[in-house]
Amino acid sequence: MENTVKITINGREYVVPKGMLLVDAAKSVGIEIPVFCYHPKMKPVGACRMCLVEVEKAPKLQTACTSPVADGMVVRTNSPRAVAGQNATIEFLLANHPLDCPVCDRGGECPLQDNTFGYGRGVSRFAEVKRHFVKPIPLSDKVLLDRERCIMCYRCVRFTREIAGDETLTVLERGSWSQIGVMEGKTFDSPFSGNTIEICPVGALTSSMYRFRARPWDIDVKTVPTVCAQCPVGCNVNLTIRDDAIKRVLSRENTPVDDGWLCDRGRFTYEFVAAPDRLTQPMIRRNGQLQPASWSEAIAEIRDRLQETLVKRGAASVAGVASGRGTNEEAYLLQKLMRSVIGTNNVDYTFRPHPAASALDFDAATGSIAGLERANVIVLADVNPIKEQPILDLRLKKAVGNGAKLIVIGPDKIDLVTYAAHWLKVDRHQVGAVALGILAAVVQENLTKGEFVDARVRGADEVMRRAREIDLDRVCAETGLTREQILAAARLYAGAANASVMYRRSDRPAELASALIDLSLLCGQIGRPGAAIYPLVRQTNEQGALDMGATPDRLPGQRTIDDSEAKAHLADLWGRPVPEGPGLSGADALRAAADGQLAALYVIGHDPVTNSPDPEAVRSALGKLDFLVVQDIVLTETGKLASVVLPGAAFVEKDGTFTNLERRVQRLRAGTTPRGEARPDWQIIRDLGVALGGDFDYQSSSDVLAEIALAAPIYRGITTGRLRAGGLQWPRRGSDGGGTESLYDGNDQTFTCMPIEATGETSVRG
Ligand code: SF4
Ligand code: FES
Repeated sequence: MENTVKITINGREYVVPKGMLLVDAAKSVGIEIPVFCYHPKMKPVGACRMCLVEVEKAPKLQTACTSPVADGMVVRTNSPRAVAGQNATIEFLLANHPLDCPVCDRGGECPLQDNTFGYGRGVSRFAEVKRHFVKPIPLSDKVLLDRERCIMCYRCVRFTREIAGDETLTVLERGSWSQIGVMEGKTFDSPFSGNTIEICPVGALTSSMYRFRARPWDIDVKTVPTVCAQCPVGCNVNLTIRDDAIKRVLSRENTPVDDGWLCDRGRFTYEFVAAPDRLTQPMIRRNGQLQPASWSEAIAEIRDRLQETLVKRGAASVAGVASGRGTNEEAYLLQKLMRSVIGTNNVDYTFRPHPAASALDFDAATGSIAGLERANVIVLADVNPIKEQPILDLRLKKAVGNGAKLIVIGPDKIDLVTYAAHWLKVDRHQVGAVALGILAAVVQENLTKGEFVDARVRGADEVMRRAREIDLDRVCAETGLTREQILAAARLYAGAANASVMYRRSDRPAELASALIDLSLLCGQIGRPGAAIYPLVRQTNEQGALDMGATPDRLPGQRTIDDSEAKAHLADLWGRPVPEGPGLSGADALRAAADGQLAALYVIGHDPVTNSPDPEAVRSALGKLDFLVVQDIVLTETGKLASVVLPGAAFVEKDGTFTNLERRVQRLRAGTTPRGEARPDWQIIRDLGVALGGDFDYQSSSDVLAEIALAAPIYRGITTGRLRAGGLQWPRRGSDGGGTESLYDGNDQTFTCMPIEATGETSVRG
């Protein structure tokens, strides 16, 4: 028990971890000490004195948020002296506070109100004239400041310094004139600015989008716990819903995923849900014009036209593309519709080319987001988390705070370069060559982990032979780096107890991904928290779409299209055979349409016309189709070309699951009703499946997830009921029902290196 100490709080003895702050120790045993400036994710400052307690042998009251526990410590949080101290703090704070609770956004959920009620005297000896300021003043277009409400706890300033790392806020003026403001020469446009609103313990910082829109006690206000749909991190959120519309988005801490933070994209991107241009009813093209139609007319039209196409041109002339931002249930149902009803593997979730297959069994991150905190070294190969997976950026900064060394490779001075031990600044097309150079240096310097390689890595001899042939001087000449830079990165990575690599999953050329995977395998950096490979996905549910088999060459559970056992299993489950051979990817489907080889295309949540570098070419290709169905929430440029348009639901209007970038399956919950006659997308696909005679008898999205758990072995045992608040990282372990933080964590797992020659890109794996 050398890591614990005995303390006495309010007459009872407790054993708590050594070195813990008194405020946390008390909380851990169920005793609340009131706080304002203290925040469990930031360093204590002892600024507000709300947490005063009596500590035996200490001459004065102590601040519990700055006092570590010590063996034998005797503490009283509710003695007359402690209570008098707490009363006085509240009294002082309220002397200056405007007490404008009736018009303050924080009213009803304000720590100052709560602490006043719980620890204040109820009377004041002060009769000060209140401060009056012009209010509010904007710190940014999103965050407003009412200066007179501020209690100078510095939480907001500390957040920008310690968590976001951008130091955008500071304290201006001195003494009683002190006020929060934007640091000179900066603007408060941090991608994480909204967190300051949430951690401000009073109503000093408010959201310009939420101000005066709702109050917690409004009879029609409800809170819906769900998952952010803006990026693949999958931060957990609570939506405040009033009048069937989102009024604000708050974080709902799921520590392993988001650590309690939310980026501004997730917090403030919700007005699109109530946008006036939302599609509210199905449309069918009649006499060249899209005209409103009923659901039964639209479904019947699609059924008839698809059946006609199947008879005239065959299943191979039909393709479907699911949304990478849709739920697992939608992706699963679309691929089931294409495979079991239409009879084709022409299904995808993207119109972009796919990267080459990797050497690992699963196309997924091997580690977890929280595992990064255990990494000693992290290689960031041309990634930009603050833009693409924002909250991951905060985790990486936290990892650096824990001592991790970053090696950034790439041309862009991303914010993490400031934190990096090495920035190997090279052009984008040279990032793969640098990764190969590091791999070569590891081999040439004999830094590989021989025991691990001998026992668990196949094909290593050949990779090492090729790596020895790589001329580092040539790599240096081509990239402009020095030999020392490459060697230093190689030594740092190979020598780390736990090291991780990150690259974009979509990265091309595939040379980068395979060099980093080989590097990880040769150094034994896989299968442990902190020792992992992260091919970062970019779309919200790209990982889920891959897992669901919404790709032309993979079946549910990422099983390959030529896996006869998997096909027999699915045929048994679906009552229909699985078509042979890989189908057309989304990119292939557009090419086939341009060549007149594709007759019908069903597109969900994509606008390839707008998103293509050559919109006219896509427009022309789609124009050659006999039949185009577009399902979306607004009428896109692609939708304007459609034969039938189906109004789908926004993320807040449907139930289902997303799988985030670390394989965590989490629940999405409906909070509002779809606009007009729009429907949750899984219901639309189900209705089509039923109309076309398929086995699509689902009453809820949970029914679909239950079938996914049967169809995809990596989702075995994952049901709505078992997801609970925190979600589960697949595969679910049989031993205790929990998720798997590190893939390939068994000592019997073997790997196969990617031959260096075999790298290259293909549009479809297989
Ligand atoms: Fe604290 Fe809020 Fe004032 Fe910032 S604005 S110092 S968070 S009270
Ligand atoms: Fe301890 Fe502010 S909470 S001094």
